[in-house]
Amino acid sequence: MTKVRMGMVGGGPDAFIGQVHRMAAGLDGNIELVCGVFSRDQQKNRQAGESLLADPARAYADIASLFAAEQKLPAEQRMEFVSIVTPNSSHHAIASAAIDAGFHVFCEKPATFTLAESVDLQRQLQTSPVLFGLAHTYTGYPLVKEARQRVANGELGEIKKVVVEYSQGWLAKKLNNQTSKQGSWRLDPTYAGVSCCVGDIGVHAANLAEYIIDSPIKQILADLGSVEADRSLDDDATVLLRFANQARGVLIASQISLGEENNLNIKVYGSQGSLSWSQQEPNSLWLMSGDQPAQLLRTGFDYLCDQAKQCTRTPAGHPEGYIEAFANLYQAFANGVKQHRNNPVKDSRVEGVPDIEHAVSGMQFIEGTVTSSQANNSWLKLDKLTPAEHTK
Ligand SMILES: NC(=O)c1ccc[n+]([C@@H]2O[C@H](COP(=O)([O-])OP(=O)(O)OC[C@H]3O[C@@H](n4cnc5c(N)ncnc54)[C@H](O)[C@@H]3O)[C@@H](O)[C@H]2O)c1
Repeated sequence: MTKVRMGMVGGGPDAFIGQVHRMAAGLDGNIELVCGVFSRDQQKNRQAGESLLADPARAYADIASLFAAEQKLPAEQRMEFVSIVTPNSSHHAIASAAIDAGFHVFCEKPATFTLAESVDLQRQLQTSPVLFGLAHTYTGYPLVKEARQRVANGELGEIKKVVVEYSQGWLAKKLNNQTSKQGSWRLDPTYAGVSCCVGDIGVHAANLAEYIIDSPIKQILADLGSVEADRSLDDDATVLLRFANQARGVLIASQISLGEENNLNIKVYGSQGSLSWSQQEPNSLWLMSGDQPAQLLRTGFDYLCDQAKQCTRTPAGHPEGYIEAFANLYQAFANGVKQHRNNPVKDSRVEGVPDIEHAVSGMQFIEGTVTSSQANNSWLKLDKLTPAEHTK
């Protein structure tokens, strides 16, 4: 079967995550990058097209030209899905235009700039037969899948408490040349939205917790802040959580925790057992029961669940990590696109890939933390948040 043909918007020569997406998409040999709009700077766009594409003429000047030109190509050459790796403010316009033009969408998080925009995409997807995936990378790790499966099997009993943390230190000091490109738009409400820290990493932590225990966050109480007086968005957040399954939790997201790298870790405590996983040691999962020695599960062994084994490429002890986790989402999305070729379905969801519901709940979480924090840190029911009407 032919490779799945991908287009990309964003990911120009000086971008961060676009190159990670290209490595991940290419890892299993199922996806080829055929076109894109890599930068609004036309020199950089052409430069990327020349180095990345078999046909550099398919580096288009803007998204209108991308979708119009690709629609005119024969079906067997045309882009099948677009990967959106631009800053948050442009996600909705690009995704919406792609859906209108009949292209599948794989989008970076946070899904959109506002909750209203995600609700709008959800509405569009109800009537358009295209697939939508969201890049919540950490759900692609094999041992995160194992953790979810162990909870689903009931091995932890009733889930009582979740403690999830995503700590970084790169915004602890004023931005320098190394951090300014990515930092400047993340701290600018015009590009990032209502939040820096929660939108950038807190939403990953929330999604990870919901994914592992398979229960949505229903209520929150948030305390957001900023260490630098001249920052208009948060760089630090502490959030109390109540899940639909009655579990309580705490979420810490911080970009000012000096010395921290990408310290995403989660602990889930149940009535029969507990588990612990850390992104910086992703091939290990600890299970605890309280009356037996703690058990260490490792990737690459037959005792893991099928989903975990399918997401592992190398034998035990050869470390896999971030690129492979991303690649697992791409692999699942490419499989969805291939199935859709022969058997188009009305459902935009793809097995194994975060979807439009996660897009909406993620935006509810981001806007909810800001609302709760501004309302003197009061409890807020996330499903009571009403998005401001979306205007096209
Ligand atoms: N899933 C993850 O783990 C993860 C990690 C990092 C970033 N992200 C998300 O990825 C997105 C991009 O982040 P980044 O750090 O790579 O940003 P970046 O600033 O490094 O790169 C953005 C790129 O998009 C290009 N661009 C901007 N607007 C464009 C437009 N309208 N058309 C075409 N190109 C355009 C820029 O020129 C640049 O090349 C953000 O939404 C961010 O939240 C997710």
